[in-house]
Amino acid sequence: MSERPDSQAANQMWGGRFAAGPDAIMQAINASIGFDQRLYTQDIAGSRAHAAMLAATGILSDSDASAIGEGLLTVLSEIETGQFQFRVELEDIHLNVESRLTEIIGEPGKRLHTGRSRNDQVAVDFRLWVRDQCDQAIAGITGLMRAFLAQAEAGADWVMPGFTHLQTAQPVTWGHHMMAYVEMLARDQSRFQDARKRMNECPLGAAALAGTSFPIDREMTARALGFDRPTANSLDSVSDRDFALEFLAASSICAMHLSRFAEELVIWSSAQFRFVRLSDRWTTGSSIMPQKKNPDAAELLRAKLGRILGATVALFTIMKGLPLTYSKDMQEDKEQVFDAADSLMLGLAAMTGMVGDMTANRDVLAAAASAGFSTATDLADWLVRALDLPFREAHHVTGTLVAMAERKGCDLPDLTLSDMQSVHPGINDAVFAVLGVENSIRSRMSYGGTAPDRVREQVARWKVALG
Ligand code: ARG
Repeated sequence: MSERPDSQAANQMWGGRFAAGPDAIMQAINASIGFDQRLYTQDIAGSRAHAAMLAATGILSDSDASAIGEGLLTVLSEIETGQFQFRVELEDIHLNVESRLTEIIGEPGKRLHTGRSRNDQVAVDFRLWVRDQCDQAIAGITGLMRAFLAQAEAGADWVMPGFTHLQTAQPVTWGHHMMAYVEMLARDQSRFQDARKRMNECPLGAAALAGTSFPIDREMTARALGFDRPTANSLDSVSDRDFALEFLAASSICAMHLSRFAEELVIWSSAQFRFVRLSDRWTTGSSIMPQKKNPDAAELLRAKLGRILGATVALFTIMKGLPLTYSKDMQEDKEQVFDAADSLMLGLAAMTGMVGDMTANRDVLAAAASAGFSTATDLADWLVRALDLPFREAHHVTGTLVAMAERKGCDLPDLTLSDMQSVHPGINDAVFAVLGVENSIRSRMSYGGTAPDRVREQVARWKVALG
């Protein structure tokens, strides 16, 4: 003790070779307990599985293991009831739990860390947490898909303009537009399902990096924690964070989709478009302009991708230069993933609410659908079918007719037959049948097309798929 005057201040969990405690700023930069306390459920589940395995393999006595198992449940309830004192000098969730366990049960608590390290401990805790978030994302996406499906079913034959370059392109159906998001979300969901499957291997038992000399049973802990199998390489086990990166990548793509629809809502709910009405529940007023109803939730949703993608880039950057195996840099993974996951879950919930509550202005959509010469392609296609013109020529004739209508300040169906015949003498009365919006959408019967019957088929398929 005499040559270590300050040893009282050294860390009780690893301070054996230390004469002095850390500088206060060292403690501030080093400690993760401020955020990783969020992993307490996973940390305790991992420790309980580990202790049970240590007893089953004869590494610990049954009585020590059951004291540990019980004690960990006490710690769990202390945390859940807010009685637990998190201590920054104990750095992280792992040391906080273990230290409190030892306070409660004494000596057996000190045996828990046999055959493991914080490196495999944090890897297993974090995997469990991210796996759970994959499940939540999958469930949240299903809810949002159902909301889009309900909109699609109601409006399978409501016409609206379809856009390219945000210029009126061709008439489409409301249902078709809604179903486009169902397809995107289904792919998003499958990305989380894929990632979940790949991450579902248990790193516990890799110990610090090389494995352990104790006769542990990694199959047993893997099974107890719901993993498919133990990881096969101890070095990889403690240094891999690609499970978190896959979660972030899947989250980024999903949030990008949410952001695109949010952008459409912002445009559609404006006074200039008036395609939809957002409910009062998802909008706010202005403190100065009484007429305003601002689509704040949609705007914030659009911004969430910024955070989520930011977290993705941050974790890639943290990981990219690290030699094997664990480096403390990796502690910076958690806040990024926590924030991204929170943003995604909130975004999914908000979008589900907004989609469920929004009302399409059918009249406005219909009027917009026929404006902007939206059936020009139908006219060109008719010239090909009825007059056997080559498509390029039909395109040219149609373009000339559009220019004529523009000059006259009318739409294509308002041109007279003789107007049309002045551009191409072969045009006859039958042309007027294809210039209507209703006809246009009904004719788009190709698989995946916008025809209401096609949309209803897709709605039916997805209703079955979602159960
Ligand atoms: N708090 C650490 C983290 O989040 C736990 C692992 C620490 N391991 C170590 N050898 N210091 O990464």
